[in-house]
Amino acid sequence: MDIRAVTVEDIAAVSAIYNHYVRTATCTFAIEPEGPAYWDMWLRTHAGPHPAVVAVDSGAVAGWGALSQWNSRCAYSHTVEDSVYVHPDCHRRGIGRAILSELIRRARTHGHRNIIAQIADHQAASERLHAAQGFEQVGCLREVGFKFNRWIDVAVWQLRLDAARPACHGA
Ligand SMILES: CC(C)(COP(=O)(O)OP(=O)(O)OC[C@H]1O[C@@H](n2cnc3c(N)ncnc32)[C@H](O)[C@@H]1OP(=O)(O)O)[C@@H](O)C(=O)NCCC(=O)NCCS
Repeated sequence: MDIRAVTVEDIAAVSAIYNHYVRTATCTFAIEPEGPAYWDMWLRTHAGPHPAVVAVDSGAVAGWGALSQWNSRCAYSHTVEDSVYVHPDCHRRGIGRAILSELIRRARTHGHRNIIAQIADHQAASERLHAAQGFEQVGCLREVGFKFNRWIDVAVWQLRLDAARPACHGA
């Protein structure tokens, strides 16, 4: 399995994986599948300090992950949020772990200080995946989502990377 930066040629597979979960699961709070305009913007905003990667297995995209802006206010610029989505036919083969490891490596490379994961609905797979990489749950937002006719909690998990402080902040 190869993990590499996403390209425009991957978008059909990336969007198909994501839109599957939009339709069937509470791991994303999107309710309608996202169309081409969304993915065009997604690709343009996932570059530089906010990378997106795909896991390619036997020539096919088996999963993807991304580091996104956590908050648009400047002081949050060293904190990012991760996303990991693995094709439903490819679960429990180590792909999610490999993607998240690569995102953590890239976050360190870009000098980020924290990675946040917002894990909806107490999903064991995502919680264990993140816990195994050193994330800790730091809070839980009760019933902030409403999907499939029920209220859904979002747990907030954090990985502190202990990166060096930005030079502009001085000693
Ligand atoms: C969460 C998700 C990314 C895990 O991907 P995966 O490739 O199946 O996970 P891996 O095989 O790499 O497993 C890594 C670890 O995660 C945990 N895990 C994964 N799936 C699990 C499950 N169904 N139940 C419990 N723990 C699970 C385990 O600790 C596992 O380690 P182990 O196999 O040594 O026990 C995948 O289930 C998925 O795409 N889910 C839908 C999208 C989602 O919830 N994304 C996270 C929100 S950002």
